[in-house]
Amino acid sequence: MVIKKILFLLLLSGFALAENAYEKHCIPCHVSLPSSLQNMFMKYLAAYGGENNVKVGLRHYFRYPARDISVMPDLFIDRYGIKEPLEIDEEELREAINIYWEKYKVIGRLE
Ligand code: HEC
Repeated sequence: MVIKKILFLLLLSGFALAENAYEKHCIPCHVSLPSSLQNMFMKYLAAYGGENNVKVGLRHYFRYPARDISVMPDLFIDRYGIKEPLEIDEEELREAINIYWEKYKVIGRLE
């Protein structure tokens, strides 16, 4: 009985760990926004160009979000505001940005 419980708990924690930094930190907050994460990525790609610039730009914005450097239209910012600086550690932020880049870079190249 105890062993079953322990196995169950291990299984649960396994599922929690299986969630990556992008799924954990980015998706939950963005699901309620009308502009998709893919759409925002395309704006970043158009504004910043290559991989390095996009990643540096995103990293800066997530730490110091501000209206004058946002890629979002004024009307969008008026309605939804500027996001709060992300309070996650460097390692998770890097992981989330890398996953974000890998997820949408191909689509970005095709357009
Ligand atoms: C607490 C909620 C929240 C979290 C967490 C969050 N975002 Fe956002 N994000 C927003 C909101 C609101 C906006 C629109 C306002 C703005 O651009 O500042 C936004 C804007 C953006 C933009 C456009 C930035 C710009 O130039 O305006 C990108 C790209 C983005 N998010 C990606 C991400 C990624 C990737 C993550 C995970 C590392 C993430 N977001 C985590 C709420 C969030």
